Amino acid sequence: METFLRPTGSKEEIYKETLKQLHSLLAEESDVVANMANTTSLLKLNFGSYSWVGFYLMKNGRLVLGPFQGKPACVSIEVGKGVCGTAVSLKKTLIVEDVTRFPGHIVCDPSSRSEIVVPIFVQGEVVGVLDVDSEERANFDEIDEHYLGQVAGMIADMFDSASGSRKEPE
Ligand code: SME
Repeated sequence: METFLRPTGSKEEIYKETLKQLHSLLAEESDVVANMANTTSLLKLNFGSYSWVGFYLMKNGRLVLGPFQGKPACVSIEVGKGVCGTAVSLKKTLIVEDVTRFPGHIVCDPSSRSEIVVPIFVQGEVVGVLDVDSEERANFDEIDEHYLGQVAGMIADMFDSASGSRKEPE
């Protein structure tokens, strides 16, 4: 397996290199859980300001914790609740500069200060979210939205588009 160096440079440069690394890392495997796990690891390693990186997946109408890196987190989130559940109900990426000011924010780690939640779409339906937290206030902007949206798209491509469920490994 390839060894990846931690990229340096501007946030945009780090994202561009991280996406190249991800393409190469994810090409080795078709199992979506394995690929989500490595995705969270790579993002957390490459971005020192990320305190938590993880996926929540839609199961029986609620979000259930998937592969992640960081402190243990709440395992189940209702649609419409918290930043994650609100991103699902609005079907859009949410950037929260200060989580203490987001009504209904679900506290998993009290030191988390800002957050971005990117929905994963398959055939127009949200199958899960990519959630990233930071201990720094206002750590996320439209650059993160753009590149993390591409990461979410790479994961979405691993779902079976006909059924909306995970593709079985070959
Ligand atoms: N803060 C999230 C909950 C998940 S954790 O941040 C890992 C929310 O309000 O939905």
